[in-house]
Amino acid sequence: MNDNPLLHIQKVSKHFGGVTALHQVNFEVQENQIKGLIGPNGAGKTTLFNMISGFYPVSSGQIVFQGQSLTSLPAFQIAKLGIIRTFQNVKLFPNLTVQENVMVGGYSHSKSGLFSLICNLPKSVREEKEFHSRAQELLDYVGLSGYSTLYASALPFGQQRLLEIARALMAKPKLLLLDEPAAGLSIPERKLLAELIGKIRKLGITILLVEHDMDLVMKVCDEIVVLEFGSKIAEGTAAGIQNNPRVLAAYLGEEVNHA
Ligand SMILES: Nc1ncnc2c1ncn2[C@@H]1O[C@H](COP(=O)(O)OP(=O)(O)O)[C@@H](O)[C@H]1O
Ligand SMILES: [Mg+2]
Repeated sequence: MNDNPLLHIQKVSKHFGGVTALHQVNFEVQENQIKGLIGPNGAGKTTLFNMISGFYPVSSGQIVFQGQSLTSLPAFQIAKLGIIRTFQNVKLFPNLTVQENVMVGGYSHSKSGLFSLICNLPKSVREEKEFHSRAQELLDYVGLSGYSTLYASALPFGQQRLLEIARALMAKPKLLLLDEPAAGLSIPERKLLAELIGKIRKLGITILLVEHDMDLVMKVCDEIVVLEFGSKIAEGTAAGIQNNPRVLAAYLGEEVNHA
């Protein structure tokens, strides 16, 4: 326990009609930590991401970021505070180029505003140039430098995932929520992803990682929270949870991906 966690999930519950997707979940994410959030399909991981990022309201409980409750804030304000997510099902603009997709991530921080961007006012032209070069840097950073002028839809799936991460970084996250970033990736791509996650942390960014690839989770996470049927059943280091009988039982019958 730390008095000043970056993110504090406090007794958070979520009901969809009669379905309890999350039940009184508590945990903390410390600044500059890589925290894993795992659990069988349907455990409530994406639902929690949807609440942290303001896509869904909580049914009860509190989500506190840097001491501020997020509970009644709309999604765009939560993004402005520095909580940025990627999606389990990649969400890109297929008819924009790779570079443009990254630039979209920067507009929540746009100083000139949409009006001056549309009208090509000088301030926005300058900003557009800055966005352009920053987007290119981020494409280099994730290993997509040669692809900037392609349509996003022309990229193979693994690279679309990297593009989504570059777009998220463009939004200058303090806390990055990654929802199954390794899903659909080849083994070499997973290795690169693990390295990329480590590099992102070195930028001073805190990461909450939902992932089914146990090898990846165990390798990159400082601590892991395990959910089952919406409840937290374990929390600790990789070594601490991997022989936990409740965790093993939760995964029995689930195909655990050891790729
Ligand atoms: N928008 C929704 N409406 C109704 N039920 C939902 C909705 N989103 C998620 N659920 C339910 O909440 C539970 C948790 O789902 P989810 O958070 O997607 O799990 P996970 O990401 O861990 O696989 C599931 O039972 C799912 O069917
Ligand atoms: Mg999910």
